[in-house]
Parts: sequence; C-alpha cells; structure tokens
Amino acid sequence: MNPIVTAKALTKYYNGLKAVDSIDFEIERGECFGFLGPNGAGKTTVMKIIYCFMPPSSGDVRIFGLNVTEKPSEIKARIGVMPQEANLDPDLTVLENLIVYARYFDIPKKVSLPLAWELLDFVEMKEKANARIDNLSGGMKQRLILARSLVNNPDLLIMDEPTTGLDPHSRHAVWDKLEDLKVKGATLLLTTHYMEEAQKLCDRVAIMDSGKIVTIDSPSSLIALHGGNLENVYLKLTGRSLES
Ligand SMILES: Nc1ncnc2c1ncn2[C@@H]1O[C@H](COP(=O)(O)OP(=O)(O)OP(=O)(O)O)[C@@H](O)[C@H]1O
Ligand SMILES: [Mg+2]
Repeated sequence: MNPIVTAKALTKYYNGLKAVDSIDFEIERGECFGFLGPNGAGKTTVMKIIYCFMPPSSGDVRIFGLNVTEKPSEIKARIGVMPQEANLDPDLTVLENLIVYARYFDIPKKVSLPLAWELLDFVEMKEKANARIDNLSGGMKQRLILARSLVNNPDLLIMDEPTTGLDPHSRHAVWDKLEDLKVKGATLLLTTHYMEEAQKLCDRVAIMDSGKIVTIDSPSSLIALHGGNLENVYLKLTGRSLES
C-alpha cells in the first residue's frame, strides 16, 4: 500500500540554521505517528512542511503521493491542521469560526452550518456556540481548533502539541476524540511532550534531536529494547530532561 506521507532527505534551513537535517520517514494509512523530541528539535518545522505552510530547503516530501512544493493546494484540501499556536478569529463566535473556516474549502453555508453543529457536538462544545473566543478557556480553544481541523473531513490530521496546556480531564477528552477518529480510519500525525500521550495514541514514534531522527519504532518495541517506560527511552536517547 502507498504511504500517506513519504519524506526523503528532508532538510530545512532558516537563514544559516539547519533546523531539520536530512530526515527520512514514511507514515502509513490509518496509523497514528508521533514526533517526540526536546524544544528546538525541529518537530514544528517538519509539521509546517507537511501541512504546506512552507517548503523544504531540499529533499522530497510527498503527501498522498503529491509533492509538497508542486501541489500544495491539492494537499491542503485533504488535510486537517492543529497548529502549535492557537489562531482562532477573536472577532467571530465559536460557531462562526467553524463556518468561516469551511468557506476556505468551498463548503456552502447550508452544509457548513449543520456540520459546524455536528463538530461542536463531537468536541462537546454546543453550549458555547455563540461565545466569543476570548471568553473560552485554553482547553476549549484547543477543542474548537480540533473541531475546525475536521471541517473538510481530512484524510490526514496533523496536530502540533494538541494537548499542551490542557488539564488531565481535557487531555483525556481529546485522547478519546482522537481514538474515535482512529477507529474510523483516520491517519493521525502529532507532536507531543507527553510520553503517556505518545504511548497511548501512537502506533509508531520518531524521536528527534537537533534536527535529526534518532530512532523510529513502536513505543512497545522501544520499551522492550531499552527497558523502563517511554519516558526512560526518551531520556536515554535524547540525553536530556523533559521540558514539560
Ligand atoms: N521562523 C523561524 N525562523 C528562524 N528559526 C526558526 C524559525 N522557526 C524555528 N526556528 C528554529 O528552528 C529550530 C527548530 O524549531 P522548531 O520550532 O521546529 O522546534 P520544535 O521541535 O517544534 O520545538 P518545541 O518543542 O519547542 O515546539 C529551532 O532552533 C528554532 O529556533
Ligand atoms: Mg514545536
């Protein structure tokens, strides 16, 4: 079967700084793949290249077999994105944020309105439909961004630290939603600093450090190989303490 994401020798420079250093990986259809690694390892840079926010400096990156530098519009139509920085429109209500976002995908209002309610129901925020963004808690904003990322029924969902800053209850609520999506066959790509999250959700993880992939494997194989739990494995392979 063709992988959903293929990266070969992916490299990214910011001016003189090599943020991502010739990495290779593939993500299969239906799997949950996680990027782990310390602050500045290059995780967000990789996510931004995959969701076609910026091109790689060199290397070959294909999503659904399409090259990210040649076919960004086609790719964007089929992916959902939860960026690391929250970027909801503060001038709109919760419901309006979803409807306006749906317009980017040419979804007409007669479709987007019931869809927006369905998505608010999915993230358990129907009662906040008419609230302003500034009046939401951090966890509610995260759940709204998750709802928004599903507006175009994406084949691939890319989430950069989807549960950072959430309380344990909200984090478990998001995990439940992601597991629902997985059961329905979605392909999930995420970054996280929470080893429990990676162990619970991810079929495979790539551990990054200083722009390179140190290892790619399933959490259970890494634990069998190195002993302890995923946190011990992470600390051993990156040689640092956890950031969060
Ligand atoms: N827009 C930018 N311009 C210049 N340098 C950047 C830019 N974005 C990131 N960097 C640098 O690239 C490197 C990788 O950053 P990146 O954001 O990909 O790390 P990360 O693994 O996502 O870290 P975190 O866990 O803190 O989110 C860092 O050294 C960072 O300072
Ligand atoms: Mg990041």
